[in-house]
Amino acid sequence: MCGIFGYVGRRVDAGSLAIDGLKSLEYRGYDSWGVACKTGNTLTIQKETGKISAVDPADFGTACSIAIGHTRWATHGGVTKENAHPHLNETSTIAVVHNGIVENYEELKEDLKRKGHTFRSDTDSEILPHLIEEELKTRDANTEKSESVSGDFTAAVRRACLRLSGRYAFLALHTESQTLVAAREGSPLIIGVDTDGYFIASDIPAFLAHTRTVQYLDDGEMIATDGKTILFLDIRTGHEVRKREIEISWSVKQTQKGEYRHFMLKEIMDQKDSIARAINQDEEEIRTIAQAIKHAQGTFLVGCGTAGKACVAAEYFFSVLAGHHVNYAPASEFKLFHHFLKPESLLIVVTQSGETADVLEAMKIAKAKGSKVLSIVNVQGSTVARESDYTLLINAGPERAVASTKALTGQMAVLLLIAYALADKLQEGKLLLLETSEMINDMLNPRYVEHLEALADTIKRHENLYIIGKSWNYPMALESAIKIQEVSYIHAEGFAGGELKHGPIALIEKGTPCIVLTGKDEVTADILSNARELSARGAFIIGVSPERKEVFDEWIKVPDAGAAQAIVNIIPIQILAYFLAVKRGKDPDMPRNLAKSVTVK
Ligand code: F6R
Repeated sequence: MCGIFGYVGRRVDAGSLAIDGLKSLEYRGYDSWGVACKTGNTLTIQKETGKISAVDPADFGTACSIAIGHTRWATHGGVTKENAHPHLNETSTIAVVHNGIVENYEELKEDLKRKGHTFRSDTDSEILPHLIEEELKTRDANTEKSESVSGDFTAAVRRACLRLSGRYAFLALHTESQTLVAAREGSPLIIGVDTDGYFIASDIPAFLAHTRTVQYLDDGEMIATDGKTILFLDIRTGHEVRKREIEISWSVKQTQKGEYRHFMLKEIMDQKDSIARAINQDEEEIRTIAQAIKHAQGTFLVGCGTAGKACVAAEYFFSVLAGHHVNYAPASEFKLFHHFLKPESLLIVVTQSGETADVLEAMKIAKAKGSKVLSIVNVQGSTVARESDYTLLINAGPERAVASTKALTGQMAVLLLIAYALADKLQEGKLLLLETSEMINDMLNPRYVEHLEALADTIKRHENLYIIGKSWNYPMALESAIKIQEVSYIHAEGFAGGELKHGPIALIEKGTPCIVLTGKDEVTADILSNARELSARGAFIIGVSPERKEVFDEWIKVPDAGAAQAIVNIIPIQILAYFLAVKRGKDPDMPRNLAKSVTVK
């Protein structure tokens, strides 16, 4: 959701660093932004509505070696300058940027109002600086007395945290202290360790240009750093926690658009090699995981949105290839199925970011029942990756566009590999996926992309679009709909082909674009028959298929990839969705109302 960034250290351009860092977090929220810089004992606050991409870091030239910043995705309160972060306390001595939701904010706000605090915004976040201020006042009544203002400030933040319920990650500054304090419960915060100081951000790309050495803050922990040293504390006990430094493998180049106009297109094109990276897994580990699935008493799959569609595809992979039954539920629905979890059950969690709140909640439920958790994750070191019993990284590299593309195909490739291992055919699966990766590399040539651009031009004025598929192409029909909806705002819906005649076919009018996803397998005849039912009602049929069929008004050729057909078929639709957005004048990287990492429930 929101992106937060902080720096403290020897550098004196902390304001510009914050702007640059926030720009690379803009995919997490882009309705407003703000920065607080501290020079001497003065806080300078700047905040605005709109996107931070338009801001020039050079405008933040005032010498300052400690700054915090925020890019917002509104939850409580509309998109206004007042609601933008940083928020201040009553005396404007404490600045806070916050990601998450303080669930008990109403009760805390009432209490603070009774104590004389006034509030300027409609946000839950604004209570944080006021609460810290109140806790600073009460320090004398506490056992946690400190020799320094910084020590008092850190202790006050800790006590404030103890009064919060909900999910949060926040950074706090005080005019009288050179210490930056941060705390985490449920929303991500990562520390970048540089020779000159410390970065603290919601995600690694924010400081990747400066350091690849990171330390992870876990739930229930906080830090206090003056730029020279850093102290990790357990919020509940106040005791120090030891942390390792970890080197991450992402490069700055991977986080940039390069020759592309948008991250979405760049990431679609990354699929020329990201699938090969995804299946480059330790074979013994894949076999161990297959055994764990085989022997589990109930295997459950959870994910959200696009990752959820990879899970539905996996239900087909496991059933068709290995005759094994697994159960999918959207992560947000999973708690209703908790009765079926046992210590011998296995939960497979699929997530790009590894920080999605609903997914973390599902994991918590499974762990409470003693079940084991396998995660298929893109972001190394994310909460899901760190808290799972087994983790498989898909190695897609950073995914910046809000619309997930290369992460999906990486997730499906790993799930397909596991299904083959479950059928004792790991090598066969690996070979198929390697061939598929090569075929995708061939397919993604400029002529292919131009064809899809031209098709987008033909259909861009339609307000309704339908997609059908069968077997593993059914979840891809659902995924096609998400991709088209979220970036182009066309009303798109995906269906299982056989379901049409049970209702949705009433929506078809003359010229309605309908995409038919198919391969060359035992369900092809059925889906083509569904396509003919649509054609007979006047639909404009766009076939995504290895072969041209007479029912297609327009044919998007894809390679014949057998059991990996779903992975291949979704790619032209990602490109089509991209061009539909661009041709309708929308920014595909920043769709309205959406944020990349959904860290609220
Ligand atoms: C859609 C999209 C979302 C995510 C969903 C889960 O293009 O990106 O539907 O797939 O929010 O996110 P992760 O995979 O990070 O858990």
